[in-house]
Amino acid sequence: MSYPYQIKSIEDYQQAYQQSVIDPEGFWANVADHFYWRRKWDKVLDWNFKDPEIKWFTGAKLNITENCLDRHLGTLGNTPAIIWEPNDPEEHHRIITYRDLYNKVCQFANVLKNNGVKKGDRVCIYMGMIPELAIAILACARIGAVHSVVFGGFSAQSIADRIQDAQCSLVITCDGAYRGAKDIPLKSVMDDALMACPSVKKVIVCTRTRTPVSMLKGRDLWWEDEIKQVETMGNPPCPAEEMDAEDLLFILYTSGSTGKPKGVVHTCAGYMIYANYTFVNTFQYQPGEVYFCTADIGWITGHSYIAYGPLSAGATTLMFEGVPTYPDAGRLWEIVDKFRVNTLYTAPTAIRSLMSYGLGPVNHKDLSSLKKLGSVGEPINEEAWHWFKDNIGKGKCPIVDTWWQTETGGIMITPIAGITKEKPGYATLPLPGVQPILVDENGKELKGNGVSGNLCIKFPWPGMLRSTYGDHERFRKTYFSTYENLYFTGDGCLRDEDGYYRITGRVDDVLNVSGHRIGTAEVENAINMHAGVVESAVVGYPHDIKGQGIYAYVIMERLTHDLELTKKDIAQTVARIIGPIAKPDKIQIVGGLPKTRSGKIMRRILRKIAENDLDNLGDISTLLDPSVVEEIKKGKL
Ligand code: PRX
Repeated sequence: MSYPYQIKSIEDYQQAYQQSVIDPEGFWANVADHFYWRRKWDKVLDWNFKDPEIKWFTGAKLNITENCLDRHLGTLGNTPAIIWEPNDPEEHHRIITYRDLYNKVCQFANVLKNNGVKKGDRVCIYMGMIPELAIAILACARIGAVHSVVFGGFSAQSIADRIQDAQCSLVITCDGAYRGAKDIPLKSVMDDALMACPSVKKVIVCTRTRTPVSMLKGRDLWWEDEIKQVETMGNPPCPAEEMDAEDLLFILYTSGSTGKPKGVVHTCAGYMIYANYTFVNTFQYQPGEVYFCTADIGWITGHSYIAYGPLSAGATTLMFEGVPTYPDAGRLWEIVDKFRVNTLYTAPTAIRSLMSYGLGPVNHKDLSSLKKLGSVGEPINEEAWHWFKDNIGKGKCPIVDTWWQTETGGIMITPIAGITKEKPGYATLPLPGVQPILVDENGKELKGNGVSGNLCIKFPWPGMLRSTYGDHERFRKTYFSTYENLYFTGDGCLRDEDGYYRITGRVDDVLNVSGHRIGTAEVENAINMHAGVVESAVVGYPHDIKGQGIYAYVIMERLTHDLELTKKDIAQTVARIIGPIAKPDKIQIVGGLPKTRSGKIMRRILRKIAENDLDNLGDISTLLDPSVVEEIKKGKL
């Protein structure tokens, strides 16, 4: 496979960037020409950020799986599409060629059809990182069903919220999942969730851990039995459903600053083009290379850069079931060594965690196959950047620090591997097609270099979200109402003297804990569900490994004699309601919270206290009761 739109030099980049700004439609049409369409578009772009409405490639017809599978069969049929490494290093890995993957996707797509799934139906997927997860999402896409993948670490309540919001009619899950030393009982968690989900008519359960499960008659089916049925039918092919460019491809829930997570909606054509373009360019993928992204498919990084980006490019994508520290902190390096990995794309939190084990686990591993490294999910501190560069990349591999979001569908600001001059801690420059703008609090553009402000994007790009599921007004409010005619990212950003971008972190009430996005309001709601809690306030604080930790201030109706137990119970409640990733790291029981006269909690003060910056609390005279602050400070000591 060749990529005629792959940037080869910094001059190429500059030229592509210029063209993408002067003639965005022409630019993206040229890229899109290299894909397989059932019918080409009438118009490349229709948009306004007011309503807002964004449509790419209107009138075009396609199916993303024909681009990820069918079109590769001729030349890449025997090439590995997915290399799968299990959690347990003793278990055998699997290699799935493009032909195998095509067959398996068609087979499972027929299973879905046999169970009544139709174009437009929503399917919830709650599985561990096994190849069947990739097969499941592609099978949905094959028949035009909309997948909504829920990360295996979320609780029954979180799953139920997501299933109800999307009104899913079918669920695909596993008996259990292996993640490091843990077995997660997925089916049993799903059973709890489904008590509140009458829309779900069928549940398909794939075997992985052989954990005992209960199967409900008429509703629950084994994946393997269903496959056998398709085999007895003689494995008929499964023609791809013809999709409109703007038909929904998937929903992925993510946290915002208020209320419940929202369903970010991505559509077929624009997302496909963008995931592919950004994959091929950022990582400078060359045919035959082995590419390894350590994310979970439950997050957008896995959607775009384990599944759709690499597969649409005919790449070999490595999928790892486990975690970087199991059975020991040398696991990632062993995988790199074992499969001669060329590109490793991971998260700062993983790098920091592995750094803390020293160089022992790295020594004596052959990392000479590595050519390119990548980072995503949160700001990467310079120490971690240099450690990655020197000890993993041996000083010779470029690092791409990729900034993007669930909403953007793909990478937005990043160095292009080996082409853009890098600077530690900087996501550097926007990819072609991306028009960033920094604004001050009032929405005034901050022009020139050496400025800091809120990061917005002023022109659509093909991978951007099109709506929030079932609530278009929320979409407008969240992203387009803060600043007129701009998409607001929620991130703060610095543009330095070289015009390089450095993302400084969220400016809203969203935390980034180990690269996972968590809304403070969500955690507060969960804490407030705990018996005896009157009110709570949650803020982030700097954490050596996680980037940010969760600090909760909680007011109780009455104090028990065992405060430590109360705190543990509260943390447990949060884990049960949202999932273990949202468990507060620190809980402080307080008598009151700093509020303004109008009743607004002053989080700025709580943040400072959580950071231990007790002498710089700023002006507290506008507080209803300034003595509360002293009390909280004392309670912390
Ligand atoms: O704050 C930014 C941070 O992660 C947020 C998006 O989170 P999510 O939608 O879960 O997607 C994560 C994976 C794409 C952003 O608003 N973020 C992501 N990448 C970076 C980053 N912050 C700094 N540098 C990055 N490279």
